[in-house]
Amino acid sequence: MSLADRDRAVVWHPFTQAATALPPLPVVAARGSWLQLADGTQLFDAISSWWTCLIGHSHPRIVEAIAAQAARLDHVLFAGCTHPGAVELAEKLVARAPAGLTRVFYSDDGSTAVEVALKMAVQYHAQQGQPQRTRFLALEAGYHGDTFGAMSVGDPTDYAGPFAPLLWPVARIPVPTVDGDPLLTDADMLPALAVLDRLLAAQGETIAAVIVEPLIQGAGGMRMHPPAFLRAVAARVRAHGGLVIADEVMTGFGRTGALFACARAGLTPDLLCLAKGLTGGTLPLAATLATDAVYTAFRGPDARTALLHGHSFTANPIACAAALASMQVAEDEHILANAQALHQFYRDFLPRCRDLPDVRAVRWLGGIGVLELQGGGYHDADRSRRIREACLARGVLIRPLGPVLYTMPPLGSALSDVAAAWDVIAAAVAAHR
Ligand SMILES: Cc1ncc(COP(=O)(O)O)c(C=O)c1O
Repeated sequence: MSLADRDRAVVWHPFTQAATALPPLPVVAARGSWLQLADGTQLFDAISSWWTCLIGHSHPRIVEAIAAQAARLDHVLFAGCTHPGAVELAEKLVARAPAGLTRVFYSDDGSTAVEVALKMAVQYHAQQGQPQRTRFLALEAGYHGDTFGAMSVGDPTDYAGPFAPLLWPVARIPVPTVDGDPLLTDADMLPALAVLDRLLAAQGETIAAVIVEPLIQGAGGMRMHPPAFLRAVAARVRAHGGLVIADEVMTGFGRTGALFACARAGLTPDLLCLAKGLTGGTLPLAATLATDAVYTAFRGPDARTALLHGHSFTANPIACAAALASMQVAEDEHILANAQALHQFYRDFLPRCRDLPDVRAVRWLGGIGVLELQGGGYHDADRSRRIREACLARGVLIRPLGPVLYTMPPLGSALSDVAAAWDVIAAAVAAHR
């Protein structure tokens, strides 16, 4: 029996309709930007394995750090204990994060980083004498993960499904999206800000925080917005006493051409969520960074004012070692410069794709390049499916978000490989109407 057949007998895959999905790709090895299938086929991982693989697969220095740490200290509980990797990683994150974020709370993945931020926001206000601040504001088309809190603040349109009745009511702010380069493109923000102003006038006293994916909303369709919009949202929410949560689970660690999208946007959040690229994409690990003001509100003589949240594998030492190695490799190998070079490539290449059949828009930022086709919702994108299969047949792995095709390759990719991948994508768009 093939691996795919054995898989189909016992495995349940995420975001996959088993009745109609193609057999899963049997991946047996990976190196750099390339995945190897059981039959020896090489696939270019144009989406960094769900945006996790920051530099390249199985980077020797990260692999070595993982092996050495596994032999030294595999795991220890993180309540009442600490270890060198967790401390050093927190020091490095604090040193590199937007100013004012001085505390690191570890968890496991993007969803838990968001859950932690949401809980911190609510409890912070409660302990500041404002227990009525339990509501969140979020951006339309946002995605923050699949646990219940993260689903609540995410846009319910595509992902909430049968869980919708269980989600908290969250007020959503329209987003003035732009195509092209969001750092150079203006948008009319006034209608969106007018909605926000009305929401704040009605509910401002009950708002715990606003949560944003800065500059690029990922799973909602790689939608981009100008930095001025983020700053305006943050200023208005703060003026009404709410906190600002930046979800950089996707954008963190250089994807937008700066270490954090917040820095590009001139936004200093109260809480910052990190995961995916934190370990270079090798192991699950997440962090929620908080300001001193937030952290201080949890200190006191009463055990119940602590943040009563934690996971078995909080700050796993092997994952921390991977994160430290990944951050060092990213610096040594000039990953930010690579993201900027990708940005230049997209800027030159993507506008030419506007002439392909039924292309609605192109946009790009740092290592992320996007081609949006006309029509089709998230669950209804037959054309995208055919394009994906055509790309696979030519050695390029993409995973369209409905009508949105994009690449977000490992930032250690050769520019020539990314260019070749886009030739394949453009040819598939031309061939499949
Ligand atoms: C912006 C953002 N936040 C949170 C998440 C959830 O992360 P995870 O899948 O690691 O739980 C994702 C995942 O794609 C994301 O893009």
